[in-house]
Amino acid sequence: MSTHIPTRRLTIPDLAAMKGRQKIVALTAYSAPIARLIDPLLDFILVGDSTAMVAYGRRSTLAMRLEETISHTRAVMNSTEHACVIADMPFGSYQASPEQAFRNCAQVLAETGCDAVKLESNLALAPTVAFLVERGIPVMAHVGLMPQFVNVMGGYKAQGLTETSAATIVEDARANFAAGAFGLLLEGVAEPLARRISEQSAQPCIGIGASPACDGQILVTEDLLGLGGQRKPRFVKQYADLAAVIRVACARYANDVRQGEFPELAHCYGS
Ligand code: KIV
Repeated sequence: MSTHIPTRRLTIPDLAAMKGRQKIVALTAYSAPIARLIDPLLDFILVGDSTAMVAYGRRSTLAMRLEETISHTRAVMNSTEHACVIADMPFGSYQASPEQAFRNCAQVLAETGCDAVKLESNLALAPTVAFLVERGIPVMAHVGLMPQFVNVMGGYKAQGLTETSAATIVEDARANFAAGAFGLLLEGVAEPLARRISEQSAQPCIGIGASPACDGQILVTEDLLGLGGQRKPRFVKQYADLAAVIRVACARYANDVRQGEFPELAHCYGS
């Protein structure tokens, strides 16, 4: 068995070229230790606006701030060398106008060195995507269940289950591809619809709660590790129970300190 040591970070054209050849594997990361561990296994890492909920314990992704996106994306860039890194633009940083979007996306790319941005983009925002792409900013468009629209949707609900909703998603997808988005992220979309969009697109479609027929899959890393908190969406497959591992390790530490069994002299200097 040989070990392949990657020598260069994957690029957006590399991801695009994987369509129809091999599945694209992606996860989220917000911090250096997790990013370092998962980097060799992935094609891209998303510094999701889910940082607001997962890392900061806030109630929704609407509370993510641009400075936080920059800071977490820098941490991920500093600790990775293989996977392409995509920064998720926070609510309020790109919706006001194409110029506002360009200013903020350019700042994220310039200050972090990441490869691309992701925008939750419907038909109305497609012209903003075109404005960014024409000026050198690669964009992944997030359609279907768009968490930044939670107040409009009245909760986190699967999309594309009715004819009207399905037609809206198809229109959003078409408009964003026509605007130059290099890929789509399909979240919480009815399986047959996600399958159809993926099969009919020339660009990669990444699913989360969408379809096995998508060109790739993404999950929130903490969800698959069992660190995601109480509410587990139907689309999450938990591959480990790190919460239990952490509880046991920290309980052992607490017990050792209370019993005077930690630190031992081996952990001290000059003895
Ligand atoms: O912010 C996030 O974690 C996302 C998920 C859909 C992957 O956008």
